[in-house]
Amino acid sequence: MKTVTGFSKMSKEQKIAWLASELPGEANELVSDLNMFWHHDREVQKRFDEFSENTLTNYDLPFGVAPNFLINDKIYTVPMVIEESSVVAAASLAAKFWLDRGGFKAEVIATKKIGQVHFLWKGRSEKLQQFFHENKADLLNALSHLTESMEKRGGGIIDLELINLTSELADYYQLKLHAQTCDAMGANFINSILEELGKVLEKKISLNPFFTEQEREVEIIMCILSNYTPECIVECSVSCPVEDLGEFSAGMNAETFARRFVTAVNIAQVDPNRAVTHNKGIMNGIDAVVIATGNDFRAIEACAHAFAARTGKYRSLSRASIVDGIFKFSLTIPLAVGTVGGLTSIHPLAKTSLAILGWPSASELMKIIAVTGLAQNFGAVKSLVTTGIQKGHMKLHLLNILNQLNASDSQVEHAKEYFKDKVISFTAVRNFLY
Ligand code: MEV
Repeated sequence: MKTVTGFSKMSKEQKIAWLASELPGEANELVSDLNMFWHHDREVQKRFDEFSENTLTNYDLPFGVAPNFLINDKIYTVPMVIEESSVVAAASLAAKFWLDRGGFKAEVIATKKIGQVHFLWKGRSEKLQQFFHENKADLLNALSHLTESMEKRGGGIIDLELINLTSELADYYQLKLHAQTCDAMGANFINSILEELGKVLEKKISLNPFFTEQEREVEIIMCILSNYTPECIVECSVSCPVEDLGEFSAGMNAETFARRFVTAVNIAQVDPNRAVTHNKGIMNGIDAVVIATGNDFRAIEACAHAFAARTGKYRSLSRASIVDGIFKFSLTIPLAVGTVGGLTSIHPLAKTSLAILGWPSASELMKIIAVTGLAQNFGAVKSLVTTGIQKGHMKLHLLNILNQLNASDSQVEHAKEYFKDKVISFTAVRNFLY
């Protein structure tokens, strides 16, 4: 590829034409593939184009639902956007399994978010502490024009702290803001406040006769919310007497299943290699609902994994136990999501997802998302300690391979029958077809 100037100024058609000219061998296919996924409604397409920059087309992912989720005595059908086969099926099976055993319990523990003004200041830290103590109310007052409408909705700033981190990095301090953002994820709200706070702090320090000339200089490095939200956290669980778990494949009884299940979760508590895969299974469910509802899955992912490592060792996010004959499986996870603002209100299918969920509040959505993660984890670990995952996985994978090989409907039917008792691989399927 050659470098290009003025690319962002080109129309979409010009951008595609430029790409095609750079890939003459694939030009026709490239242009037709990119055009094929444009939305037929110009208005809708315009909206999609404006989500990002240099947009050429749309990248489709399957949008499905997992029904029968009983959460705190209410039934939900959960929308999921995911490209991996088996995930929606596993969530649906787990939802049905627990529907017959009392369903899922979920509780939001807290919904606080934080943001930081990171700055450098040279001087005696006690002096800065005293300044902060005397000026904290003024600093907060200076933000009232930005917090007014959030306060009307029941949110706003909860607290502001001065943190001294000079022992870690020379001259480094933070103003740490704690906020409540109601049904919004709150990134814009928090970031706007922080940028204003940075300016006010700079001004107040530079004009304060309490400081020497050198101390009047403060360098604001950056103002940004933190995606680590251990105080925006939800807990969910399922439980039932061990004998109610029923019978599993190859005659595995409930006691053996429960013991093997708890051991598998404990392995993910002690071994980071297993914990990452175990948590990936949880995130299969979490991300699918986060994406379906137009929330920021990168923020959710980054936070979840930092939380999983909060003890200094990366561990399972879920826990399982058998106490007095009761099997319990639970998940505690930080989830900073919103049901208003951002993509939630402008992506047509994010709105559809929220409608399917009955227009939940952010707290209710936290519970639904966490439960889907727990259900997914239950489904994966259940398969792993009984049949192994390849059996169910490969059945769906077979369809993907058949699609990739452009199999006809009748070939698909024959292949499904043929591979019922055989090992599925790309080569085996290709050999079967051709
Ligand atoms: C695959 O996407 C997820 C699993 O690997 C999760 C797990 O191992 O627990 C099946």
